[in-house]
This record gives sequence, C-alpha cells and structure tokens, in this order.
Amino acid sequence: MSVQPAHNLSLEEMDKQSFLHPYTALQDHAENGPTIVASAQGVNITDTKGKEYIDSMAGLWCVNIGWGRDEVVEAITEQASKLAYYHSFASMANEASIRLADRILRLAPDNMSKVFFGNSGSDANDTNVKLVWYYNNLRGKPDKKKIIGRERGYHGVTVAAASMTGIPMVHKAFDIPLPQMLHTVMPHYYTNAEPGMSELEFSKWCAAKLEEMIIAEGPDTIAAFIAEPVMGAGGVVPPPEGYFQEIQAVLSKYDVLMIADEVITGFGRTGNWFASETYGIKPDIMTIAKGLTSGYIPMSGSIISEDIWQVLVNGTPEVGAFAHGYTYSAHPVAAAAAMANLDIMEREDLPANAARMGTYFQNKLKQELAGHPLVGDVRGVALLAGVELVADKANKTPLDMNLKAAPTLGKYCVEEGLISRALMQMNALSFSPPLVINEGEVDEVVARFQRALNRLTDDLVKSGSWKEK
Ligand SMILES: Cc1ncc(COP(=O)(O)O)c(C=O)c1O
Repeated sequence: MSVQPAHNLSLEEMDKQSFLHPYTALQDHAENGPTIVASAQGVNITDTKGKEYIDSMAGLWCVNIGWGRDEVVEAITEQASKLAYYHSFASMANEASIRLADRILRLAPDNMSKVFFGNSGSDANDTNVKLVWYYNNLRGKPDKKKIIGRERGYHGVTVAAASMTGIPMVHKAFDIPLPQMLHTVMPHYYTNAEPGMSELEFSKWCAAKLEEMIIAEGPDTIAAFIAEPVMGAGGVVPPPEGYFQEIQAVLSKYDVLMIADEVITGFGRTGNWFASETYGIKPDIMTIAKGLTSGYIPMSGSIISEDIWQVLVNGTPEVGAFAHGYTYSAHPVAAAAAMANLDIMEREDLPANAARMGTYFQNKLKQELAGHPLVGDVRGVALLAGVELVADKANKTPLDMNLKAAPTLGKYCVEEGLISRALMQMNALSFSPPLVINEGEVDEVVARFQRALNRLTDDLVKSGSWKEK
C-alpha cells in the first residue's frame, strides 16, 4: 500500500509551506519561493527548470573538487554498506577516521598534534571555545576566558561561533555576542588604512589596536584570538603585509592562543594545503570543514597543538574524562568521503591548480573590472576573490546601501547563468570556485559577471541614483 500525498502542491509551494531556510529574507522567500537545484557536474549546477549556472562560489565556498566525482560517491557507498555509523565516545573508533586524523596531521603545521571531529564549521568553532576554556581551567587560569575576534570576521552561527563573528546582522535580535567575546579592527587596508600608510604600517596599527584591547581588558582575562587567514564572508580580505607576524608577536607577549579558522582557506583554496602556510601563521588551534569533504558529506575538525594536548591529557583528578563530543563526531561515512576527497586533491595537485588558475583569475578580474567606474577594489588570493563596488573610485566613497547594489548584481549574475555571492551588509561580491576550474571557465565567469555589472550600471544611471564622477 502506498502512502498518498495529502495534497497536490508543487515543490515550490511545498517549500514555501514547510521549509524554514537558513540565511534567507523570509518575506521575499514567501513571495518568490526557492530556486531548486537538481543536479551538478564539474563547476556547473542545473536547476529544476533546466537552467545551468557556473557556480563560482562552489556552493558555500566548499566544493573544492567540483561536483560529480564518482570516486567519492563510491567511497561513501562502500563505507556505508560496511559500517554506516559508529560513535567514537569512550575510546571507540573506526578505521576511516583514524586514517583521516593521521593524514590531516601530515598536511597540517608541525606543532599540530590531535584532531577532534565535528560536523560543521560552527560546531568546530564552538568546540574550540570550550577547548580554550577547558585548557585554561586545567592550567589553573580560570579568569583567562575572553576571546577576541575581528569586526566582520565570520566563524559560524552557534551561540559561541556567532558571538566570535563580527557581523552586526548575525548578532541582531539573537541576544549575542556573549560577553566573553570581543572584536578588534578588521585588517581591511583598502577601507581602513589612513592615506599614505604602507601595508606594513597598517598591520602594525592593527596589532597596536589589539594590544590596546588586551591591556584595557587585562591580559589575564584574554584567552585566545580567532581569525580567518583570509576573511571570507565578511569581505574577502587577505591580510595586509606582515599582519599575522605583528599580531602573533602581541599574542605571544600576553600568552594568548591563536585560533586559525581555516574553514574556507583550508584544503588548497589559497594555493597551499593551508593558508597558515601561505601567510606564515603559527596556530595553536585550527578549524577545518568545507574542503575537508568538499561538502559531499558534512564534517569538520578542530586541530590542536601538542602544548594544548599535553594540558588536556594530563587533566586533573577533579575534572576527570574529557566530557565533550557529538553523536556524529568522526562519522565513518564522512571520514571515507574525506579520504577519497583528499586522494583526488593530492593526485590532481589541486592546491597547485588553485595557485595557477588563481593567478589567471585574479589577473583577469583586475584586467576586465578594475577600470569600471563602479569597481573600487578587486582583491583576493588564488581562487578566493572579492569585488567591491563604490560610488566614487577616487575617494572610495561607499555606495548607499539602500540602493541594494550588491544583491541586485548577484541577482543579475544568476540571470546571466553565474552564481556569485553578495556579501552581508557590504557592497561586495565574492568568488570561490571549485579548485578544478579551468581557463575557459574562468573567462566565462568574468564575462558573465561583466554583463551583470553593466546591467546594474545602466539601472543606476537610468534611475538617476548614481553617475560616474
Ligand atoms: C571561516 C568560517 N568559519 C566557520 C564557518 C561556519 O561553518 P558552517 O556553516 O559549516 O557551520 C564558515 C562558514 O561559511 C566560515 O566561512
């Protein structure tokens, strides 16, 4: 006997009636409904109406190996039929996660010692907060608990991760940030440096602001600093010259841990396995997710240094066992997907392809867009790029946010068959394509973006809301 559906609604209607979408303008959605993605291959996705798009965001910055890689699908199937699930509490383990932890440590910086597995970037950052607090309690420093993130930093949406995030929209109406979370300046040379300041001088200024905050709060209360090596969702901001060296000198002086949130930058995106290598960062903790499995199955991790591990393993009699873990920590199917994903990345040397194609992409974006009167800044590293729109290039005058220029441009990109992403509360769009992208596809991304940008420009001119200075 088959169960009859209770209605004859279209998928679009069913979605509107039953599905609360993440990060979505709810009223717009209730009116306009979803775009339903049906399939994907390589760097392209296709919707249920048959329209194809180049996804220059690799989903949400995550499908590093591109779509349709059967090898990963086979690894998932094989693992699911052999051992679909087991937990890793109380010393239980499975082969795929053991091998994966070992492999991650061989790719990570030398001082990294253990991997704790989670399911998302947000829960991994939540784990990091708990690890930092636990570590300082075990070290007998119970007052050392505050964590400093950065304005416009993005670390996820759990209560702790959203609190470390520095984007007002993520806090508003959710009663966060938590009082232990502070935010220092964003290292955005283009908008925040004083005229005439060199990048290095700007980096030193950022480090001085951090030090000021640590001193004002009391160094004995500051536990950690968290940063994305390249800021992603908050603006695609690569660090200015010498930034992390200046910052880490301050952190060492006050015994403050460095958490590198490599959720976007990990697994090849900046041309190396990790951006900590690209920028000479020496993290105590690293957050990984996204490119770990290329999104084929959710999985994340917190990688901790040997120093932190030593404190954890020595523990204290009062604290007892390490009481933290998720039902799905070290999920064997996710670990098998990650292993197959890393096989592909290694065999095809995707970090090197990201470096090579990244140079091509960044040059092409600059060549084709930097001269456009609405484009203030084209920035990025390897296959991570951002384009910032301004009203007046010479004075870097921002466009009025009420014009909704970035979301409109994002919408026109979609109509031109390109997924790019308007960044939150900013006149900028981002690109983070699969690392397998080729030159022809890059050319197509830039051409479609240009067409969309020209449409936006025409709109703004025609409505009288902007004119070229
Ligand atoms: C740097 C960074 N950290 C954390 C997260 C949160 O990851 P998730 O959405 O998997 O929870 C993201 C997501 O975009 C991210 O970009």
